Amino acid sequence: MNDYSTLEKFNERRLIMAHDARMNLKKWDSITCRDCHKNPNPPGADAQEAHKKLKTEGATCIDCHQNLVHEEVAKTDLNASLAAGQNGTAERRGWR
Ligand code: HEC
Ligand code: HEC
Repeated sequence: MNDYSTLEKFNERRLIMAHDARMNLKKWDSITCRDCHKNPNPPGADAQEAHKKLKTEGATCIDCHQNLVHEEVAKTDLNASLAAGQNGTAERRGWR
């Protein structure tokens, strides 16, 4: 069992937990985002270019949009994790 009895202990695991949550969204193709943002079409040229990757590179919202709502946590590379055979849970990664 992990110990979350203090904010310090929670914060020690924040990056691991954030990455797990992101990996879940990745596996689910960001379905929760798509529920509300049916067909995002941002005005900026850079954003339009980036959004093409949704179709061409199998990118999903959470690959690029991290740290929208929770306290900021270092960005993580979800494709790199998948490529390394890591499937989302810290146990499988051997991080704990
Ligand atoms: C319950 C509905 C809902 C869900 C779920 C949701 N959004 Fe949003 N999102 C909104 C609304 C409403 C706004 C603010 C209005 C706007 O800018 O369109 C917003 C704004 C945004 C913005 C622009 C504002 C900013 O902070 O940069 C981005 C980018 C965004 N959402 C991406 C996402 C992603 C990625 C997900 C999934 C992780 C997600 N949203 C999930 C409703 C939602
Ligand atoms: C390859 C990277 C990438 C992917 C994948 C991606 N976006 Fe974006 N998105 C951007 C960039 C870059 C911008 C423009 C800068 C910004 O607002 O962060 C943007 C802009 C947006 C905006 C407009 C924000 C504003 O302030 O006007 C919304 C809403 C949004 N994206 C939602 C989504 C949703 C929902 C998905 C998944 C269906 C998604 N994006 C997938 C990179 C991406």
